[in-house]
Amino acid sequence: MEKRKLAYEGKAKKLYETDDNTVFLVEYLDQATALNGLRKDAVSGKGKMNNQITAYIFEELTAKGIANHFLEKISKTEQLIRKVEMIPLEVVVRNVAAGSFTKRLAVAEGTTLPFPIIEFYYKEDALDDPFINDEHVRFLDIASEVELEKIKTLALAVNDALKELFLEINIRLIDFKIEVGRTAEGEILLADEISPDTCRLWDQTTNEHLDKDVYRREIGDLIPVYEEVLNRLKNKGAN
Ligand code: TMP
Repeated sequence: MEKRKLAYEGKAKKLYETDDNTVFLVEYLDQATALNGLRKDAVSGKGKMNNQITAYIFEELTAKGIANHFLEKISKTEQLIRKVEMIPLEVVVRNVAAGSFTKRLAVAEGTTLPFPIIEFYYKEDALDDPFINDEHVRFLDIASEVELEKIKTLALAVNDALKELFLEINIRLIDFKIEVGRTAEGEILLADEISPDTCRLWDQTTNEHLDKDVYRREIGDLIPVYEEVLNRLKNKGAN
């Protein structure tokens, strides 16, 4: 597969065209950001961690029957994905109160939620990715009602699959964010990345934070924590 021109540059990834017009090449960057890009740091080795972790997780999700855009990891920092039309939503699923949920609703961090809570954020940098509801999604013509139901069903299926996967490596899935795309045939597909950048992961025994909160809150080094998650995933079969 030949890497061609840059198609899109995100906060921690670059997307390139390839000689196959149905396939993008993603390069994971050594870049960490917080506060919607206001804080930005070069973090050597992060790209390689997130590329490996995302590839591992998408392969597991494929094995669990969850349709997604992942095709193949082709180098330490690069992977191939199916091209889809991205739906401008960040879909968050929460199992335990943390982050913005604790602030918005004054719920203590660590409170187990009685059921998984799905939230939508409109991906629009100029508006700072605002929290929106189903009717805003309809009003903005982001997705049809049928698609929105499919997105919710997919988000809950991903939650079940990820909870199970992380529990096997003694990690509690607190919350996570996914993004979805639409194929040319109108199918809704899980897309983007799933990594400690996009999930809150707490050690099941110690409650240690094994995710980007160590960077957001400046409570430790990011690389050893991401390495720990990757090593646990890699050694999963051996446990
Ligand atoms: P929040 O508590 O800050 O709303 O975040 C909820 C989850 O979504 C958390 O696991 C981090 C993830 N997330 C992203 O991946 N990207 C984002 O831009 C935001 C705001 C959250």
